[in-house]
Amino acid sequence: MSVNRFIWQGREISFRPGESIAAALEAAGIVRLGLDALGRETRYFCGIGACQSCLVRVDGTACEACLTPARSGMTVTPLEDRS
Ligand code: FES
Repeated sequence: MSVNRFIWQGREISFRPGESIAAALEAAGIVRLGLDALGRETRYFCGIGACQSCLVRVDGTACEACLTPARSGMTVTPLEDRS
C-alpha cells in the first residue's frame, strides 16, 4: 500500500495529510457511508461532529468520519459492517 491511502470496502482511498476520513471519501466520490442503527443511510452532513450522520468503523471501532483524521493503512467500513 502506498503512503496516504486507507482502505474503504476493498478500495484504496488517497488523502492529503490532515484530511478527515469523510473528506477523503467525498473527494473519491463516495457519499453513502452505510446504514445507522435504525437502517437509515449515513453520510457526510454537518462536518463538525454534531449530527452523527457520518459514523463509520475504523479498524473495528465506531467513530465520526468527519472528525477522524485519515491515517495510512487504516481500514474503514460502514457502521453496520462488524466483520
Ligand atoms: S457529518 Fe455530522 S457528525 Fe460527522
